[in-house]
Amino acid sequence: MKGIILHGGAGTRLRPLTFSGPKQLIPIANKPISQYVLEDLRDAGVRDVAIVLGETFPELVQQHYGDGSRFDVSITYIFQGKPLGIAHALSLCRDFVGGDSFILYLGDNLLQHGVRGYLERFVREDFDVQVLLKAVDDPTKFGVARFEGERLVGFVEKPKVPPSKYALVGVYFFKPTVFDVLGDLKPSWRGELEITDAIQLLLDKGYKVGYDFVTGWWKDTGTPDDILDANRLVLDELNPEIKGFIENNASIQGRVSIEANAIVKHGSIIRGPSIIGENSIIESGVYIGPYTSIGKHTIVKRGEIENSIIMDYCLIDVNDRIVDSLIAPYSIIASNTGKPMGKRFILGERSHVEI
Ligand code: DAU
Repeated sequence: MKGIILHGGAGTRLRPLTFSGPKQLIPIANKPISQYVLEDLRDAGVRDVAIVLGETFPELVQQHYGDGSRFDVSITYIFQGKPLGIAHALSLCRDFVGGDSFILYLGDNLLQHGVRGYLERFVREDFDVQVLLKAVDDPTKFGVARFEGERLVGFVEKPKVPPSKYALVGVYFFKPTVFDVLGDLKPSWRGELEITDAIQLLLDKGYKVGYDFVTGWWKDTGTPDDILDANRLVLDELNPEIKGFIENNASIQGRVSIEANAIVKHGSIIRGPSIIGENSIIESGVYIGPYTSIGKHTIVKRGEIENSIIMDYCLIDVNDRIVDSLIAPYSIIASNTGKPMGKRFILGERSHVEI
């Protein structure tokens, strides 16, 4: 069994965060989204993994994952460049796959209980393809399954009028027979070769298509709100570990992880679930509220932060409460000192500020 992780795409809905890196490397509880994917594959016994790279900083992906040995897997990189569709990305993996079955895992999808159980069923039932489905509130944002009674009869990508509430999760189990139909695909209305259409073709041609319903949560992390949701979901399951230093009279409440060499100074409050990254400093008087991830080498000098992700090498020094925020590495947020006066901003293109 092999694994393919899609790490391309444009990440337009996550700008400006994706101006300096691919969306799949955005950290959730201080770990890149696609690392959860890689570790899930590994934990399901998949050791031979291809990562498909796009044009947004592919070198950062290679830098992070290397040859895979750090994660106990072997990694092959395949360059896609422009995001011409998930099925296009898959078509580039034919040589990598050879005659093996494989899991195609979108690098921005997270599953609470991982893929192991579904993989066992795929192998047992000897399907040509197995898809995973999850009931969602707004199916128009996904590929959606169509049923006649209990029978799965088709799929439609981003339907205006959804035929069911069951979205296609971004994890697909295939036999190499899928490559027989990829050549027949035509670009969709959004100009992409759709994996949804490929599975429809397999169904039409009588291949054995199985499905399973996902238990536990599933998150597609396409937007800033999705990223914050994912951060909450992952932090809710945090195994707290204290490796850094907590000064006397600092208050640590609930499940909080303090990573190596981080310092939490006296008189600060950290309310879990939260995580403070390596070498970061939380100064006296600071309040870090629930559902907050602070990256590495970040200093929170003043202020209150809740339900947010502050990434590496940031400086927060405010006389204010920061909520529901995503702050990219090397950012500085500082309050004016003294009397209220004009606010000063130095912001990259497509920044989003609410004051
Ligand atoms: O998340 C599940 C959904 O993923 C499914 O319900 C849809 O049927 C499926 O089409 C897909 O929809 P999205 O619109 O969310 O796909 P997105 O463009 O966000 O791409 C998904 C992942 O694949 C993302 O990590 C980027 C990567 N990708 C995407 C394209 C189009 C590539 O690596 N190359 C590509 O060409």
